[in-house]
Parts: sequence; structure tokens; C-alpha cells
Amino acid sequence: MNVNAVILAGGWGERLWPVSGPERPKPLLPLGGGGRSLLRACYDRVAPLVGAQGKVYLVTDGRLAPRMRATLDLPKEQVFVEPEGRNTAPAIGLAAACLASIDPGSVMLVLPADHLVQDEPKFREILRGAVAAAGKGYLVTLGVQPTFPSTGYGYIQRGEKLMEVEGQTVFQVARFMEKPDQEAAQRYVASGEFSWNAGIFAWRVERILEEIRRHVAGLGELLDDLSYEELLAPHSEELVRRWRDVTPISIDYGVMEKASKVAMLPAEVGWSDVGDWHAVWETIREGGTEVAVRGRHVGHDTTRSLVWTSPGKVVATLGVEDAIVVDTPDALLVADLGRAQEVRGVAKEARPAPPDWDELRGHDAAGMLSVVQSFPSQCREALARGRKLDAPQELAGFRRVVCTGMGGSGITGDLLARLLSVEVRPHRSYELPEGIDEHTLLVGMSYSGNTEETLSAFRQAVDKTPRAMAVTTGGELGRLCHERDIPWIQVPAGLQPRAALGYLLLSPLPWFDQWGALRHEVGAAIDMLQSMSEELAPANPGNPAQALAERLHRRVPLVYAGSEFTSVAAFRWKTQINENAKQPAFWGELPELCHNEIVGYELTQEVLPGACVVFLRSAFDHPRVQARVEILKEVLERRGLRYEEVWARGEDAAGQLLSLMYFGDWTSAYLALGNRVDPSPVQPIEELKDKLRRWGNG
Ligand code: F6R
Repeated sequence: MNVNAVILAGGWGERLWPVSGPERPKPLLPLGGGGRSLLRACYDRVAPLVGAQGKVYLVTDGRLAPRMRATLDLPKEQVFVEPEGRNTAPAIGLAAACLASIDPGSVMLVLPADHLVQDEPKFREILRGAVAAAGKGYLVTLGVQPTFPSTGYGYIQRGEKLMEVEGQTVFQVARFMEKPDQEAAQRYVASGEFSWNAGIFAWRVERILEEIRRHVAGLGELLDDLSYEELLAPHSEELVRRWRDVTPISIDYGVMEKASKVAMLPAEVGWSDVGDWHAVWETIREGGTEVAVRGRHVGHDTTRSLVWTSPGKVVATLGVEDAIVVDTPDALLVADLGRAQEVRGVAKEARPAPPDWDELRGHDAAGMLSVVQSFPSQCREALARGRKLDAPQELAGFRRVVCTGMGGSGITGDLLARLLSVEVRPHRSYELPEGIDEHTLLVGMSYSGNTEETLSAFRQAVDKTPRAMAVTTGGELGRLCHERDIPWIQVPAGLQPRAALGYLLLSPLPWFDQWGALRHEVGAAIDMLQSMSEELAPANPGNPAQALAERLHRRVPLVYAGSEFTSVAAFRWKTQINENAKQPAFWGELPELCHNEIVGYELTQEVLPGACVVFLRSAFDHPRVQARVEILKEVLERRGLRYEEVWARGEDAAGQLLSLMYFGDWTSAYLALGNRVDPSPVQPIEELKDKLRRWGNG
């Protein structure tokens, strides 16, 4: 008879806060011994039992599925995704229904992903007995020998002896008892008849499905109505809806307490559910020492304590007794070792409350959000203005474009390089741009018209080519153009340069079109930006840009683009996060970063614990880059690093690029509000410019 194992990896382990959390659930914590996660240890423990005929499966939720899968290197078909967490009966039912299609006559083992077992060989021997009893039609549960009168576990009362199989004694279950009070727990343990219910089971697939049909209203019908393919993710809306109606109930209450032919095998195997920091203290204190340490600890006069530090950080304790000290980049827990059970309560309070966006909007004193919102109209207005101007014919016939500009104006050169059909070299420095000759169109790009690097390069370059133009609100650059009769486009003043990107980029675009140098039209893209503007605006609370800003709060974004074409979007994310949110951010580009940055992940957790990769993805990315992203995600998972994905929208390449940029503009503005800063002013830039002005030229 084949044996398959199903590991349940649902909950996140609230009592192990602040190390565990919805983003870092308990099964993934490195408590499994030898640096392994609990999940990995569970897999290793059970894999020898299923042999070559059976398989180990996982049940988890959709959000965690990729990380869990990466931890175990499991193929997709071995991961069953719950449409929504509904406790263990529905999770087990889902796995059983799938196994009924894959391997109907088999025995199914069920194990929680986040327990520890010290004596693994003995555990497997007991499970072999459980499998044999399950083969005879029993619903089998393991009963763990209690080591103290716990009020945190359910109990099983042992009944008559049923049989001996595989060297194991199998008993009937007299009854299941819910978590008792202290007095009852003491009585149970003293009687010697009771075991802890560890939630580890064995049964034939058909048998458990029958019992589910009989006892769990709605679940049996739902599972019978759906095919194997329908049960696999991605789920239909219909399934998700019906799943929500299923009663959330544990397999113990829902089935085991009511079923017939229920057996138990006693298990004395050094089991722990590592449920709280006290249990972790017991698990990791080496050789029974009184102070259990994970990470770097300097302890003087420290007894009976647990110290857990973040990578790269040292915790020192002096004259401390019976303490739990758990330090993470986000939170620090200091508690009494004897009160570990109560951590759930403080965790609830300590977790950050969701941002009140209406209140935070008060930080946007200069109205950056409204400017971001009106970006599509700015683009339309810029195109319309540009179309009204005749392209100067004396500039036509160029072979390349050099666009000199800095910061929010300079990025226009990178964008023109993607939208035009001629070679465009963005230039950002004082020195004369290379390759300027009479076939070069020089574009001076400065919103203020007063940026000294831009002016310096522009002044030097205009002598090298008769083809020069500028885009500016005026300033010195405007004056220079006027004086030397150089064509220039005047854009409306009064904005931050980076917020005027629509004007800077799109006002000159109709000229390039008239000169026959435009490769990508942007009309359709602007319509798409308009719908994004409505979707991502503050009037739509909880929108995807706000949600992402919430997840990126206090993190350092490493923004990656999937191609050279979209890399400018990653760069814009970085600069917008710097200037709007006033915080660091970095950017990179695929596939290049797979040849260097990927190695740097090794110590990222230590040196940059707040790092969070943001993949900017486009359906137009090369298929091998798409594959690289999937593999990179697994690498990040394994290193415990966070990542996010933002998918481009739009029908064409220009739309894909602009949508990624626009999403970043919104996210950076919301990040600013989350940081409680005004997104608009860029005081350090102004101060530096001012100091340089006073520095003189020498
Ligand atoms: C400020 C901003 C800056 C400026 C840069 C160059 O909003 O985006 O990066 O763009 O200092 O100044 P301008 O654009 O006036 O040439």
C-alpha cells in the first residue's frame, strides 16, 4: 500500500513574535536543527516513510506557497493551495480529495509543518505502525506522552488495546478532551491514561473523505463537486466563494471526536510543538545550559534566559534572570521566561496599525499627490503644446541626439533613448559630451534652466554643432538660447522638476515626430495612465500603490527591471523614492545582476536587513529573463529576503515602460506619507546648489 505524506503549513505562530509574522511564518524559522527550518526538518523526517512510490505534499495558502515550495524544492503539483485558511479539516479535506485522484488506495499521513521531534528513527517506527493500522481501516492519531500538565494542548484518553502491528501497540481512543484547565490537566497526567494530541494522523484517503462527508457540513459536497484540476490553484472565483462558506473547524472537533474506528499509538519521541519562546528556550539550549542563544550575545550574570538577536547585531545582558530577549530589525521583545504564552497578546498590540492615509495626507503640504494624479493630463497638455509648434527645419537631418541634463530633467534623455528611432546619448556632467559634431542634435534639458552642470556642458557643445535646442521654463538656459537664437521650448513653471516630467519629455516629442525620428507613439499609453491615475489615487483607499508602500515602509527597496528598455523605470523608482520619500533606494537591471548582485545576497540580511527587492516586470521581458526572475525569487526566499513584484500594463512597449514608472511615482509619494515627510521639497539639493553658488568658480 502506498504512503503519501501531507504537511500542513498554514498558520504563522503568533506566540513567536517578533521573529515570526505573516511574512515570516513559524514553519520557515530556522529551528529545525542544523540551520534547517522547521518545515525542512519535518520533510526530512517523513520523506523516508513514503519511499519511491509515495510523495510528500504540502498544504499552504497562496501567498506563502512559492516560499514554502522553494524551501523544499517541491514541484508545483506537490503543493495544494488553500483558497483561504479555514482550519485543519478543510485543509486536510482538500489534500485528501486531490490524493483521491492521484493515488486513491493510499494511506495518507498528516503532519503539522512546525513541530520538532528529537528521536526521529523511533518516530518513523511509530508512524509505520500507524500506517499499518490505517490500512486496516482505522483513523489513527499519535498520542504524545505528556511531560507536564499542559493547558495548551488537547488530550486523548486511551481505551482498549486493539492490536500489535509493526512492533507497535495500537489502542482504541476512549475520548478526545479539549484544552483543560490546570486542575484537569494535572488529573489527566497523574492518571497515566492521557496523551497530548499532537495533530499527527494516518488514514486511508477514502476513509477520511467518507468521514468528512458524514460530519463536516458543506465540505464533503464541495470536494465531491470539484475535479482535481479545479482544486488546484489558481482557483475559480466560484470555488473561492464556496470555500468561504465552509465552516472553519479543526479535524479533531470536526471529525475525530465523532468518527468510529479511531485508534491511537502512544509516542514518546521527544516531541515539541515549539509553540512559544519557552519551548524555543528548551529546544535550543545546548547541553542543557541555562542560557539559550541564537546570534551574538555577551552575558554577564545572566541565567535561565533566551537571547535571540538579528544577524550582525550583538545583544548584551547584565544581571538578568528568567528573561526572553528577542531582537529583530522591526521590534524588540523583552519578557519573563515564565510568561511566554502571553506574547500573543503583546504582539497583537505591538504590530503596526494600518496607516490612516487620510491623516497622513496632511504631510503633503505642497500637493505632490495631486500633481502625480494629474500626470496623464500634464502629458496630454504637453503633447498638445508641442504639436502647436512647428519643428525648426534647420535642426532636421541629425544622426544622433545628445541630451544633457541632471536629476529629474536628466532622466528625459534616458526616456528619449527608448522612444526615438535615432541613437540618443543621455549626458550628466560638466564636461563636453562626447561625439558632438554637425550631425548631432544637442538637447539642453533643465526645468529651472539654472543647473550648472547642464549649462556648462550645453555652452561647450553649442559651439560644436549647429543643431541645438533646449527644453526649460527659462532661467539662464532660456536666456542663452534667446541670445544665440537657439530654438527652445518653454514649459510651465511652478513644479518640482521631477514632477514636470510630462512637460519635459512630451513637449518636444511632436518635433521628433515631424523630423521622422519617433519610434514609439505614446497616445495609447497616456489613456492607460489615466485609468491608473484613478485606480491609484487616494480616493481609492487600499489601492495597490498604497498597499505596496505599506509593505515597503522602513525597508530599503532594491528595484530591478527586467530589461534595458524598462531599466529607466527602475532608475526613476530609485530617484523618486530618494527625493519624495527621503530615504535610500537602489536599482539594478536583469539579466546583468545575475552576474554580480546575486552573490551579494549572501550577507544582505546582515548588512542590510531592511532590504526588499522590487521586481518591475513586463510581459515583453525576454523569456529567459522571466525564468531568471522565478529562480531569483527562490534564491531570495532561501536567504530569507523579501521581494515584491510590480507588473507593467499597457498594450505596447511605451505603455509598459510608462506604467511601471507611474506606479513608482505613486508608490514613492505614499512612501513619503508613510515616512511622515512632505514629498515635495528637496532641501538638501537646494542647499548644495546654494553653497556651490557661494563657493565661486575657482
Ligand atoms: C527636483 C529634481 C532634481 C532636479 C535637478 C536638476 O525635483 O528633480 O533632481 O531636476 O537638481 O535641476 P533642473 O531640473 O532644474 O535642471
